[in-house]
Amino acid sequence: MAPSPRDHEPLADTPTHTPNDDANAVERGVWSSKLGFILAASGSAIGLGNIVFFASNAYQFGGGAFYLPYFIALFVLGIPVMIAEFSMGTMTGRSFPMALSRLVGKKGEFVGWWSLASALFITMYYVAILGWALCMMVGALGGLLEPGATAPFAPFAEPSATPSATAYFFGLLASWWPLLAVLAVWGVTLLALWKGTETIEKTVRIAVPLMWLFMLVLIVRGVTLPGGTDGVMYLFTPDLAGISQPDVWKGAFSQMFFSLSLGLGTMTAYASYLPKDSDQVNNSFMVSLLNCGFEYIAGIAIFAMLFAFSLNPVGGTLSLSFFAIPQGISEFPFFVKTFGFAFFLLVVMAGVTSAISLVEGMASAIIDKTGTSRATALTMVAVPGVIGSIITTLPFIVDPNLGGNGTVGLNFLDILDHWAFSYSLLTVGLIECVLLGWVFGADKLRAFVNQNAKLKLGVWFEVLLKYVIPVILFTVIVWNLYLDLFGGALYGTAFPLGPVDWFPVVIPIVWIGGTLALAAYLTSRPSAEEPTEPAVAAFEN
Ligand code: TRP
Repeated sequence: MAPSPRDHEPLADTPTHTPNDDANAVERGVWSSKLGFILAASGSAIGLGNIVFFASNAYQFGGGAFYLPYFIALFVLGIPVMIAEFSMGTMTGRSFPMALSRLVGKKGEFVGWWSLASALFITMYYVAILGWALCMMVGALGGLLEPGATAPFAPFAEPSATPSATAYFFGLLASWWPLLAVLAVWGVTLLALWKGTETIEKTVRIAVPLMWLFMLVLIVRGVTLPGGTDGVMYLFTPDLAGISQPDVWKGAFSQMFFSLSLGLGTMTAYASYLPKDSDQVNNSFMVSLLNCGFEYIAGIAIFAMLFAFSLNPVGGTLSLSFFAIPQGISEFPFFVKTFGFAFFLLVVMAGVTSAISLVEGMASAIIDKTGTSRATALTMVAVPGVIGSIITTLPFIVDPNLGGNGTVGLNFLDILDHWAFSYSLLTVGLIECVLLGWVFGADKLRAFVNQNAKLKLGVWFEVLLKYVIPVILFTVIVWNLYLDLFGGALYGTAFPLGPVDWFPVVIPIVWIGGTLALAAYLTSRPSAEEPTEPAVAAFEN
């Protein structure tokens, strides 16, 4: 599809303004059009979170009990925090840590680096899951949807009589293929980042529209299966008993932050390539509605399949997409392999456009801080990232009698995800709202946003930023912490871990210690550019 000429015009409302208008600005990038930015930001938001995690969260929390809290979370937390993260980028023309540094000083920079250090850990396992999805995509053309799958341990040692996605998946985990796939995913991600906004835009212009197309095909297939609409009913029938459970709300808030790519600096990095006078209310509504729209569509397709084939995705987060969906697809009346391939291709494309944004958030921050070249910054992120992803995909079986959880990598991922997912995003969200709301000033932020927004933010925005969001996030975090520390066993101790039974203790310690140390080190390094006068001076008068 040829891009229309209009896509390449500078943003209509900002003919001459570039995001980097200070004299000593390093050569950064700019989006060639508003469409490019929206595609990239929605490509970041739409990812594994929308397909893999949303569906399994919604399932775990009982379908209709989940989507109402989730919907509320979108308006109370999601959109306001996205407005804040976007605005930090355009206000300063800098990525997350340096943006916070300019707005609120060194403490802000520290928080920024801490969040990016967490992003590094998240990227490690995010790419690992993508590697598995890539293997499943290739497998769909081969043995995944056929009988005869095996894994080199019980209960999968005998070839399955019917297609068994579970046996196939564990067989895969016990092989070296995921490791190769992870290298391929990292390769594609880095290629897409090679020339910054220019190559990111090229990638998202192809991947994002294709993702929507594939999802629409899947939804049509899903709801036309006999019994498929029951799943849709399950997803959308409000369940009042479920809604009164605090756990559901907690799950919805965490899922919302992850799904919208908030709390890890991603959205600030992407917005820093926008002109200063972009309409961030409009951008935030567009990106979050596109994201949640995609999520509901994915939910409909997936729940339709679950119900049509009476599938019950027992087990962890991944089992729904990696076991139940392929199992369902293997029972399609026709085009089984095409659908199987398309589903995993969709997962891979959605995930790669998100991985790109995770890495860009870190790389652009390193560039802003040190003034180094893009190639060096990407290498600094990719080396530890690739090592982490490889650890996650090493084919090392711990427990030959596993009941579903079985490799070092899968457990490593699960435990790391538990800590990073439940804490970093929300903690960063909390601190950034407090810093922006109280230190920088919610009124100043609102004034900045309203300068360029067609739909003006009311005082309610300040109330949300200063009081409501911090109180909600603080409650969720403290409560998570309470459950983790005093709720019985440490997360992961129940897994069949064999010789790595130290994982549940060591992983959180390394994660928290490592991220704090890295953040302290990076904050203490001299910056390539001294923060000039606060970037907001321009609209303070
Ligand atoms: N939002 C993406 C998803 O739904 C993942 C992602 C990309 C992300 N960048 C992020 C999550 C930054 C948190 C923070 O899969």
